[in-house]
Amino acid sequence: MNSPINLFEYEQLAKAHLSQMAFDYYSSGAWDEITLKDNRTAFTRIKLRPKMLVDVSEINLTTKVLGEPLQFPLLIAPMAFQCLAHSDGEMATASAAASAGVGMVLSTLSTKSLEEVATVDNGLQWFQLYIHKDRGLTRALVERAYTAGYKALCLTVDAPVLGKRERDQRNEFTLPPGLHPANLTKISGLDIPQEKGESGLLTYFAQQINPALTWKDLEWLQSLSPLPLVLKGILRGDDAVRAVEYGAQGIVVSNHGGRQLDGAIASLDALPEIIAAVDGKAEVLLDGGIRRGTDILKALAIGAKAVLIGRPVLWGLAVSGQEGVSDIISLLKDELTTAMALSGCASLQDIDSTLVIRNW
Ligand code: FNR
Repeated sequence: MNSPINLFEYEQLAKAHLSQMAFDYYSSGAWDEITLKDNRTAFTRIKLRPKMLVDVSEINLTTKVLGEPLQFPLLIAPMAFQCLAHSDGEMATASAAASAGVGMVLSTLSTKSLEEVATVDNGLQWFQLYIHKDRGLTRALVERAYTAGYKALCLTVDAPVLGKRERDQRNEFTLPPGLHPANLTKISGLDIPQEKGESGLLTYFAQQINPALTWKDLEWLQSLSPLPLVLKGILRGDDAVRAVEYGAQGIVVSNHGGRQLDGAIASLDALPEIIAAVDGKAEVLLDGGIRRGTDILKALAIGAKAVLIGRPVLWGLAVSGQEGVSDIISLLKDELTTAMALSGCASLQDIDSTLVIRNW
């Protein structure tokens, strides 16, 4: 294949660069993968109502998220184990994000340490947190993220236990020799186990991640650092209201890319209720199924401040490291620019709810 011209072609190409275990881990969803598919299908249910005869000779994509400037309303979603795709892993992702002026959320389960990733200059970086049963370990992670210069804590709330991804179970997913969850292994000796008949990551969650976390724990979490809190994985208006009451400054509407509760509502379908419930009191972002510039346009029109992309970044990484991730970002940016021009929107402020209609 010549150079990929869209994100779907990157996925096809990436498959050849990845082991079966890595491709399955990256691409799969939980159980029947209904939510995984519906995240995409949801975008086809929203139609655009373009405005004509607007001067679109200059398109401005700049915005701010939690007060920090972005060249384009995009962040890279937190994704574990990026060195499975390319030896530069999270360093390549962070460099591509920084040079494009978009954000990056680093996973607790990264294969490069949070300190190393923070050495990439000029990037907006948030740290994604999984709260471990070991409070001391969790506290140390938060303190390290703050010291290293991360700008927000993104607490993932949709994973008290790991969703059942059957391909990972079948493959007995684990990390190959030499790869480790870098934020944890050196300091706490934790690693992803090898488990007969089960995904090692599922076992890791069952052993290490705190399934008893509740809203009350957010006060403790916020006492650990002055970092703003973003809750990732909210799918209901009432939870969004609670998030704001408990001090969250940002919400990521997400079902973890269909990897947690199968049958959960598509992120895009959950967005309108959450925008209405939050009523401007926090910034609302969305991830799940963003593959085209028009997907971003639809999410912004419904009220998202920015979107996050997950898997396509891994496909870019697998195909050509930092360059591939840069290309993924630039393809989406070009598509959004064209989609805005064709919709009569010269800047993000011109994108409003009149641009979309829901077609069930
Ligand atoms: C994820 N996701 C995720 N989320 C999180 O909060 N912490 C994590 O460590 C991970 N790890 C992870 C690994 C892989 C391989 C994938 C594909 C996803 C979920 C991720 O942040 C995001 O919610 C979804 O990937 C968004 O959906 P799309 O863009 O992949 O459809």
